[in-house]
Amino acid sequence: MDFNRVIDRRNSECIKWNRFDEDVLPLWVADTDFKCPEAVISALHQRVDHGIFGYGAPPKELNQTVVQRLKRLYDWDVEETEIGYVPGIVTGFNAAIRTFCEPGEAVIYQTPAYPPFIDAPNSARLRGVQNPLLQQQDGFYYIDFDRFEQQLISENVRAFILCNPQNPTGRVFTREELTQLAEICLRHKVLIISDEIHCDILFDDHKHIPIASLSPEVAANTITFMAPSKTFNIAGLHASVYIIQNPELMAKFHEFCSGLVGCPGVLALTAAHAAYAEGDEWLFEQNHYLQENRDFLDDALRTQLAGIRWKKPEATFLGWLDCSELGLTEAPYEFFLREARVGLNEGLTFGPQCRDFVRFNFGTTRANMQEAVNRMQAALAAL
Ligand SMILES: Cc1ncc(COP(=O)(O)O)c(C=O)c1O
Repeated sequence: MDFNRVIDRRNSECIKWNRFDEDVLPLWVADTDFKCPEAVISALHQRVDHGIFGYGAPPKELNQTVVQRLKRLYDWDVEETEIGYVPGIVTGFNAAIRTFCEPGEAVIYQTPAYPPFIDAPNSARLRGVQNPLLQQQDGFYYIDFDRFEQQLISENVRAFILCNPQNPTGRVFTREELTQLAEICLRHKVLIISDEIHCDILFDDHKHIPIASLSPEVAANTITFMAPSKTFNIAGLHASVYIIQNPELMAKFHEFCSGLVGCPGVLALTAAHAAYAEGDEWLFEQNHYLQENRDFLDDALRTQLAGIRWKKPEATFLGWLDCSELGLTEAPYEFFLREARVGLNEGLTFGPQCRDFVRFNFGTTRANMQEAVNRMQAALAAL
């Protein structure tokens, strides 16, 4: 697979490349500019050639593939009956909080946060509570457990939406951190809704631990979402997986979703199956390429973009850039869009304290990385 290959995405119903003017290099929404695995494309061709697209259902083989993969990659024992499918994880966690929270209750999440975490409680008429991840001197993001526990008690929190690996900081939470979070949630009867969409894109020696795999007690208190969408660049097909090991929670979630949240379409199921069953080698190569992109950006931040700081992400293809030392009089998102013609994600959408940040999607070709860095450097030089 040639990850340097440039593919024109503008005429492909693509949100990333159509949002801004044509001269803007878009590095925002979290998909990549890479062609998905050949196995997925060929499975889709075969399915399209079948020519009948009546109502679908997840095939048993897909469940088996998911179960085997969870064991193989994450040493997590899951039964086929504990798996279900939704067309997206955002849909999934919105449905979950509506299923399990009552009016007056709150949903907690860590900030900086993937923006739909911030929107979810508001649109469900629940209260959102923000637990800020804190930064050490060296930029490392850590959890303030005391504050987290205090907030669960004082804010009448019913559910915790966890993002692991974390978007946008790129943290992969450790076993110790996850255990502490899970114990606090168990102590206060707070349901864990774990968004693990980024779990397959890991760097260096980082290992993903599904929080539900920690113990049977945690499993019984957790709903986990995963997907092939980020991993294999098939987000536009809409197939996501949920794992619920507590039959009571599973029944309630089914009941809520019935008639409201449909199953992924037949092409989505075909692609998900091919990706999970045959995509390992492609994924290995992609992660290698992404890690080199991450290291390229790390170098560039030192040599070409002095004044912008980050903590190298441990996972995801997203860089969370702290521009506060640049002394800009406007949000860096606005500055880089206008002056560099680079379209990043705006810090403020990730939380109120994030004005001086931008999110940089490095899931693109090395040539685009270089171009973006050059443009940003020139814009800063002209300040
Ligand atoms: C943490 C997180 N959750 C969910 C999503 C989107 O999931 P879906 O497309 O399955 O709704 C994203 C996409 O960027 C994400 O970063």
